[in-house]
This record gives sequence, structure tokens and C-alpha cells, in this order.
Amino acid sequence: MNAVHELLNSHRSIRKFTNQPISDELLATILRSGQAAATSSFLQGATVIRVRNPASREKLAAFAGNQPYVSSAAEFFVLCADLKRPGNCCVQYDKPFEGDYTEHFIIATVDVALMAQNMVVAAEAAGLGICYIGGLRNNPRDVSDLLQLPKGVYPVFGLCLGYPDQDPECKPRLPLEVIVKEDVYSEEGDAQRIAEYDERVREYYKQRTGGGHGIAWSEQVATLLSEKARPHMRQFLADQGFKMK
Ligand SMILES: Cc1cc2nc3c(=O)[nH]c(=O)nc-3n(C[C@H](O)[C@H](O)[C@H](O)COP(=O)(O)O)c2cc1C
Repeated sequence: MNAVHELLNSHRSIRKFTNQPISDELLATILRSGQAAATSSFLQGATVIRVRNPASREKLAAFAGNQPYVSSAAEFFVLCADLKRPGNCCVQYDKPFEGDYTEHFIIATVDVALMAQNMVVAAEAAGLGICYIGGLRNNPRDVSDLLQLPKGVYPVFGLCLGYPDQDPECKPRLPLEVIVKEDVYSEEGDAQRIAEYDERVREYYKQRTGGGHGIAWSEQVATLLSEKARPHMRQFLADQGFKMK
């Protein structure tokens, strides 16, 4: 493993930050690194909103389900999928706008994820910690109104950046054999491997919480998928101009 591989393999989300600011220079490097990610069809369908206003940060922390690090992190970004800017090109060239297909939604959303993860790697390479904030989608309308997002733009997730004030263990991932298949999709051997993995995750949570019985990955996922997941998203996206044609 070289230094980049080691960095990637040492990722863990950070939820407690010091109040040390991030220099403008480093911030610019992180943002440029994000922008350097591949972008589907050269659309460049991601827009980043750097939220500096403390009152807005407090509101976003609340919208995200009271996640205090949204306001306490040195920096907080809202990463938006943006079909407005590409749509402006249609106006400029007097072409009909057909950018409201499901395909365009996927393109812009994937662009956001690629850009964000490049930002994450650049940040972690400089000793910063990060935490993605999908919790913003608890209240996407409030978030959009606060940030004055126009139609064609939606907040995919937030991203906290700052110098870590904690040093958590890396969270174990599924065995590679379970997630990498050869030639065709097969579940052969997965059940046993996942059962073993569940024990490792249980141990991880036991250590992290200093006791308790820990919770298996399978149980966590079963709970997650047995509940409705932000059912407002479909209508919100349609209202925001993502018609999913
Ligand atoms: C798109 C996305 C949204 C997330 N949203 C939140 C969030 O709202 N709050 C939070 O504390 N962690 C959030 N996370 C962090 C995940 O919980 C975390 O990445 C996962 O548990 C694996 O842990 P690790 O990042 O420490 O390896 C999010 C991660 C991703 C990729």
C-alpha cells in the first residue's frame, strides 16, 4: 500500500471538531480537488454552498435532526445537484430544455457524490476530519428555502470539515468476497461471511460504546429497511423540477 492507499483505508467519520479554522489556501485546494473529479457528459452538475452564517448553520443543524457538528465544524458545505446552470445553456442557445429525465437526476446526483468524495480525500490528506450529513434530507424544503435554491437544484447532502477532536476506530466493512463478484451475481457463501462480519461489527460497537451487547450490521440494515425512508423526497424532488420522466 502506498500513502494514498493507506489514507483511503484509514477513513472514519469525525463528529467532534476543534475550533481551529481551515486556511483559505487549504480550502481552495480541497474545493479544486473536488472539482477535478470526473463528471458525466462534462455536465458539471454539482454546486457547493459554503455556509458561513452562524445562524444558518444552527438552522441547518436543526433541520438535519439536531446534529451539533453541523454548526460546530470549522466548515460546512451543502452539496447540491444542479440542473439549473446546464439548463441556462439551453436558454442561451435557444434550445428546448429536456433536462428533467430520471437520467439527468442520476447524472447530477452522481456528479455531486464524486465531487464530494474527492473533497473528502483531499481534506483527509491534509489531516482534517469529515462527516457527510444526509440528515439534511429530513427537511429538504426548509434547507432549500434557507439557501434560496432555485428549481433544478436540490441538496443531496451536507459535509462537515474540521480538525478532529476525537480519534475513533475505523468501522469494519463487509468482506471483499461479499461485495465483489466474478462474472455474474452470486450469493454463494455470503451468508456465512456476513454472519462472521456481524460479529466483528458487534465487537466494534461494544468497544465504541464501552459495553452493551453491540449491534450486528444485518440487524441495523434490517431495521433501516423495515421503516419508511424520507417518503417526502419524491414530491420534494418533483416540486424542485426533478420530474423523473
Ligand atoms: C451520503 C452520506 C450521508 C451521511 N449522513 C450522515 C448524517 O447525517 N449524520 C452522521 O452522523 N453521519 C452520516 N453519514 C456517515 C455514515 O454514518 C458513515 O459514513 C458510516 O456509518 C460509515 O462509518 P465511517 O464513515 O466512520 O467509516 C453519512 C454518510 C454518507 C456517505
